[in-house]
Amino acid sequence: MDLQKRPSWSSQIGLVMAAAGSAIGLGNIWKFPYLAGDNGGGFFVLIYLLCVLLVGIPVFISELFIGASSKKNAIKAFEVLDKPKSKWQIAGIFGVGAAAIILSYYSVIGGWVLDYEFKSIFNFFSTKTDKEVTEALDNLLATPWLVIFWHFAFMAMTIGIVIGGIEKGIEKWNKRLMPLLFIVLLVLIFRVMFEPGFLKGLAFLLVPNMSRVTPNCVLVACGQAFFSLSLGLGVLITYGSYMKDSSKIIRTSFEVAILDTIVALMAAVIIFAIVFSFGMNPDKGPGLVFVTLPILFNKMFGSYFISNLFFLLLIFAAITSSISLLEVVVTFLTEYFNWERKKLTIIGGTLIALFGVPSALSFNLWNKVTLFGMGIFDILDFISSSIFLPVGGVVISVFYGWKLGKKAVEATTGKPIAHFFSITLLWLTRIVAPLAILIMLIHNFIK
Ligand code: TRP
Repeated sequence: MDLQKRPSWSSQIGLVMAAAGSAIGLGNIWKFPYLAGDNGGGFFVLIYLLCVLLVGIPVFISELFIGASSKKNAIKAFEVLDKPKSKWQIAGIFGVGAAAIILSYYSVIGGWVLDYEFKSIFNFFSTKTDKEVTEALDNLLATPWLVIFWHFAFMAMTIGIVIGGIEKGIEKWNKRLMPLLFIVLLVLIFRVMFEPGFLKGLAFLLVPNMSRVTPNCVLVACGQAFFSLSLGLGVLITYGSYMKDSSKIIRTSFEVAILDTIVALMAAVIIFAIVFSFGMNPDKGPGLVFVTLPILFNKMFGSYFISNLFFLLLIFAAITSSISLLEVVVTFLTEYFNWERKKLTIIGGTLIALFGVPSALSFNLWNKVTLFGMGIFDILDFISSSIFLPVGGVVISVFYGWKLGKKAVEATTGKPIAHFFSITLLWLTRIVAPLAILIMLIHNFIK
């Protein structure tokens, strides 16, 4: 007997906000702008859009369908749609495992963001020289208890939202935070419009620079499209399993892909405008967000306001992603142990928080611990996002395209939609998407 009735989203917009919340994350803000700049600007954006359309959306649809038609967690779903002990559930096992691993270190970064917002509130940066701002990150990372404190704080916030359940926790918070995130982006864009580098930044983003284009760019664009939509680890199987109306799968996937892409482009506009106004180049990853930008904020009119808004933006982006990661694990635990969801949220979340401690320590006390030349944090990131995610993506798309096949695709698109559309979707999930992801997977090893 189930302890409770299976919940569902109260509205279609709730699901779209939740899935967009998962997709829109740190990757949109600290990875996409840099990748776009480094790989040919407008040309990269174009290839990126194609990858979203031809690889991202098909896998997105596969995941949502698997969830919506099984109404089960990311592992059990495969058994329901295939048979008990189905080999396909390996995708789910990898997925739930990857969700737990990714959350454990994602939350460490979430903690840094909290620390920077805290510093921004108290105007910590304004009196500091560039060198001191640069050192702020090193100082934070060199203080184990502080990194762990913020990591736990971030996990506590994540647990606090997920514990409310699908409708009263995840849906409610995504419906609040996503519009706020959008407003913050608009305010920041409005602000940077008055910076001298605005047009140069815009041109850098939109005008193709063919001299930077290599075949590698296509792989990078595909990898980013896949990562940015949060594919391959069962987030959308899980979120899809709470859908009331599975006739909206296609619509949902397009809406989320559009929102995710718009946010990546807006973040890029903001970052390029600021960076170019000071004659600098956009950096990638933590260096951009925790070093370059705080230094430049300091030099801008209204720096207090800009830096607070920016770190709030990062908190919203990170927390709406981390709750989706925790939900994958919680949905699985709840259905596997058939225990009270609230208790399992606390237990699961706490275990993951503890599992994140070595990642937090890999920047200080344990920075000598390495495997294949990578620290603990990097190795966990590599295993989960460079191996588990693509493997999950291939299996999911092949399962949908070949195993469930035509019938499932027609059920997804609905009869009235042109036959052409189902055939396209069928072959995208059968061949194009798995092949592209497989090539990315191999590329991850040899690069
Ligand atoms: N899409 C997120 C980003 O752009 C990162 C991410 C990848 C993710 N896979 C995920 C987030 C799964 C939540 C769940 O930053």
